[in-house]
Amino acid sequence: MPEPGVHIGSGKVRELYALGEDRLLLAASDRISVFDVVLPTPIPDKGRVLTGLSAFWFARTQHIVPNHLLAIRPDGRSLECGRLDMLPLEFVVRGYLAGSGWRDYRATGAVCGHALPPGLLESERLPHPLVTPATKAATGHDENISEADAAELVGREQYTEAREVALALYGFGAAHASARGIVLADTKFELGADEAGRLMLADEALTPDSSRFWPADSYAAGGPQPSYDKQFVRDWCERTGGDKAPPGPELPADVVEGTRARYAEAFELLTGIPFARYLDDPQVVRAA
Ligand SMILES: Nc1ncnc2c1ncn2[C@@H]1O[C@H](COP(=O)(O)OP(=O)(O)OP(=O)(O)O)[C@@H](O)[C@H]1O
Ligand SMILES: [Mg+2]
Repeated sequence: MPEPGVHIGSGKVRELYALGEDRLLLAASDRISVFDVVLPTPIPDKGRVLTGLSAFWFARTQHIVPNHLLAIRPDGRSLECGRLDMLPLEFVVRGYLAGSGWRDYRATGAVCGHALPPGLLESERLPHPLVTPATKAATGHDENISEADAAELVGREQYTEAREVALALYGFGAAHASARGIVLADTKFELGADEAGRLMLADEALTPDSSRFWPADSYAAGGPQPSYDKQFVRDWCERTGGDKAPPGPELPADVVEGTRARYAEAFELLTGIPFARYLDDPQVVRAA
């Protein structure tokens, strides 16, 4: 039997357990958060999609940066990880103009302080990917900060190394996704330092919760894009009203099923592995 571990915290999506002094068990639940509010209705197997995809990417990006993954548990939703000293930042990389980036650009002509050429369309590809860091808020919404403020927070040297890693990971993920007919519009990474002070990739990586994935064949700048993530649920919440305050609404069965299908489809398209095979043996995502 695996060690149960001591429960040390709950994120919006993950339960954290300590395994001894220097390891963590990160168990991804099926909870879904929309506009930073956790909804009362779970999406079956969502946690397994996030865990399987993260492990898939961790196994393939070690040439860019080492990561916290030690083992995948047979349940397919729990990762044994090295416990790191997390940088108090989220490294958001944007290759396309969407979401808050688009809203910022429309209001200011810039995205988080990066000036951009005029006349760009919603969902348009940016001249080059941008890093737009955010602080990790203990409660509520993460807050965008300038790269200068981010560098001040963690030190210029560490910030520079981390931003280069985030850009390289985005480039790798975007190229892989593109070869499989998917646009990686933007994504978010969390990094930490191990005991020796080495920078490591942590948390989840290149999942539908941390990224915007768009089908490439229907991609057209000039409006919002359909996506393999919680946009489907967000759209339903917007249509049915509500004030984005907790508690969120219960989801009807068709929205649950539609969301589950989108998460599983993202897994299969990106990994090339049938999701049922992952459920059968989670170790398949680690093989080259
Ligand atoms: N290797 C690690 N060592 C220490 N902490 C980690 C490690 N990997 C991830 N974490 C932390 O574990 C937590 C994961 O939980 P979860 O993803 O549910 O959090 P959340 O940030 O509240 O949610 P959201 O991702 O929606 O913002 C995060 O606070 C993350 O920074
Ligand atoms: Mg998280």
